[in-house]
Amino acid sequence: MEHERQFTTMEHPALTDTNDLTLLQAAALLSGSSAWDSRPIPAAGIPSFVMSDGPHGVRRQLGDADHLGIAESEKATCFPTASAVAATWNPELARDMGEALGLEARGLGVDVLLGPGLNIKRSPLCGRNFEYFSEDPILAGRMAAGLVDGIQSTGTAACPKHFAVNSQELRRMASDSIVDERTMREIYLTGFEIVCREAKPRAIMSSYNLVNGTYAHENKHLLTDILRTEWGFDGMVVSDWGGSNSAVEAARAGGSLEMPAPGLAGARQIVAAVEAGQLDAADVYARAQEVFNVASASAGLPAPRPYDLGQHHELATRIASEAITLLRNEEDLLPLSPGTSVALIGDLANTPRFQGSGSSQVNPTRVEAPRELLEAGGEGARGLVLEGYASGYERHGGTSDALIAEAVALAERADVALVYVGLDELAESEGLDRPHMRLSEGQDRLIQAVVAANPRTVVVLTGGASVEMPWVSSVPALVNGYLTGQGGACAMLDVLTGVVNPSGRLAETYALSYEDHPTAEWYPATGPLSYYREGPFVGYRYFTTAGVDVAFPFGYGLSYSSFEYSDLAVNEEGVTLTVTNTSARDGAEVVQLYVSAPGGVFGPARELKGFAKVEVGAGASVSVTIPFDRYTFRHWETSRAAWETEAGTWTIHVGRNVSDTPLSATVEVEGTTPSPIDPALGHYLSADVTGITNGEFAVLLGRTIPTAHPADDLVASDPLSEMTRAKTWLARVAGRKLHALKAKADAKGSPDLNILFVLNMPFRAIAKMSNGAASPDMVDAILLAVNGHPLRGLTRAALGFISNARANKATQRELDQTR
Ligand code: BGC
Repeated sequence: MEHERQFTTMEHPALTDTNDLTLLQAAALLSGSSAWDSRPIPAAGIPSFVMSDGPHGVRRQLGDADHLGIAESEKATCFPTASAVAATWNPELARDMGEALGLEARGLGVDVLLGPGLNIKRSPLCGRNFEYFSEDPILAGRMAAGLVDGIQSTGTAACPKHFAVNSQELRRMASDSIVDERTMREIYLTGFEIVCREAKPRAIMSSYNLVNGTYAHENKHLLTDILRTEWGFDGMVVSDWGGSNSAVEAARAGGSLEMPAPGLAGARQIVAAVEAGQLDAADVYARAQEVFNVASASAGLPAPRPYDLGQHHELATRIASEAITLLRNEEDLLPLSPGTSVALIGDLANTPRFQGSGSSQVNPTRVEAPRELLEAGGEGARGLVLEGYASGYERHGGTSDALIAEAVALAERADVALVYVGLDELAESEGLDRPHMRLSEGQDRLIQAVVAANPRTVVVLTGGASVEMPWVSSVPALVNGYLTGQGGACAMLDVLTGVVNPSGRLAETYALSYEDHPTAEWYPATGPLSYYREGPFVGYRYFTTAGVDVAFPFGYGLSYSSFEYSDLAVNEEGVTLTVTNTSARDGAEVVQLYVSAPGGVFGPARELKGFAKVEVGAGASVSVTIPFDRYTFRHWETSRAAWETEAGTWTIHVGRNVSDTPLSATVEVEGTTPSPIDPALGHYLSADVTGITNGEFAVLLGRTIPTAHPADDLVASDPLSEMTRAKTWLARVAGRKLHALKAKADAKGSPDLNILFVLNMPFRAIAKMSNGAASPDMVDAILLAVNGHPLRGLTRAALGFISNARANKATQRELDQTR
């Protein structure tokens, strides 16, 4: 079906650069004009452009607009979320998905698609993990590059996010990530570097948080030194929604566009700063040019190509089926043969959860549910015969003996029990972090009871991040379904019945228990500073170095085929090897390349540096080549502030996951001699993260550990959640009310994203989120009111409101004048 473009762009501007703009016009270009639109400057012939989420489907709102996924959007294909896409280990497939996303964006009048999200899954508890690819930057970067390349092939601009070091939802707009330079570059920035170098996104979104004391959107080190100068990014840096702080500092540091619509106060501040000699006009024009380039390119695009939503649904299903990861298959319980009678158990089989809540939420063109498919029988049921359905548990946590008993009785009657469990809408969402890594108690008990009643039990997992599985060794078959988008139910049946031979591989470690995770003791940070104490020991980099057992290692996944590895050859260019399919089924293997450094630099035992997904016919052998590249042997040499290669004998490991690498070889690599390892790094040297002392962390940071000294008074960077400690009684009441509203929504089982946003929003963002109604001066007045001077503060805020509205009108008049 062809989707008519609903929106017409303005005429292509006559202007080719921004030098002819007045300073005010250039400054005004640096802020948006509505929830999704950049600011047009008609007097200068500059049209606006439209931005929209998101990462796995277009969320185009034509009515009420919000950035939290609350108001309805136009229908669009809901593809699997990033955590599932990463599990395909197939950047080409990500490219196909990107192309479909880009086409739908164009069809819906969207010029800039706000995605993909490629933050590192530092902790399994981050509420937005489902939107992120991996704990590994090479995998995340390459998948993101595929997606961006596909999106941009259609003319739509991609906007990878959130740059950078953004790992928690709690206090998400008021959290300062304290991280050492080497870890930042190797773990948290490398994915962004890959996407910038390989796919040249035309935009990038800065994150809400501060990085080492400076807001990401005004962090010169990140935005100018690294992003623009080192990586050659020449696009637009857009703030996360409400994430900008000082318009002047952003312009100076390399932040191009404040979103959504902060009004014109920022433009006036920029002009004043230039006139006072505090800001270079060249910086303002450079930023304006970056925004203008997006407007100009978007307006100049030819009419969008038609696309077929039916084909996009099929593509979404195909990606889902490549993502689904088989984790256990004792005695070849799977695939299920035609005629197998199944007991379908679990509320998630009736009402699937196929995407996450928040800004990425898509209004799907259609959705399938496992129960519906099996009840319909025929081709949709893939030959399985439904014995019955039982919900098994209450969706939002409560345990019910009656529901378990009903499920057990059903399981006893069927050949096989299919138990759909996983994280519900409240367990993971934008705006909140998971309180623990467990499934609900009811689900854990259900699985144990069902497998006791019918040993032929298959557990199907839903969710965007790892979970604890205390029952894992008693369950013969386990399939990870992630959040697989609108075609996920079909894709799962295809895998369960062998229509598709599973080829998904975990893009993150599944630990035995949360306590085993390197960040368990300090994640999420509840105060203003978030210390990245674990340094480079994130995910498998920790588990393999510290020698901690896991449930399923990074890169793990089974197939209905079996593969053997042989003939590893290594030369300067890379590695070649042979993979043989020793089974009678065609299948696909993900060949993974890890390296271990000679040891003159402290760091992880092994790191992923390349991978290749290959189809291998039954009984056939294929030759696989994985090239080395600029990332293979480098480390950030802190002492010389440079990327360097450690000279010496490196070990190359090739295999099917980080802990199973049947082939290895050594290679002599030329490079530099790193400065000697500092023994004061102590526990870091053995990746003993729980033993790390403050002194050792300071050595890693290379400076004294910054500490926060919360003032008695609330300040502009404090989140509204802290109003409970305000001096003014009314503000304390308001703070308590916000917390109570959150608790009420939690009790109902669906997170209230508005409340979560407001609780985590700092006072300063009031000026950025009010469509120009509030100015930064008014935020100061509000703080005065909250800090024990209600009358004075509110009076000043009211007067500020009037003068700001007047000033906005005057500024707009000035902008409307042609030069
Ligand atoms: C999210 C972004 C999103 C933006 C616009 C923010 O709250 O962090 O990922 O693109 O809203 O919806």
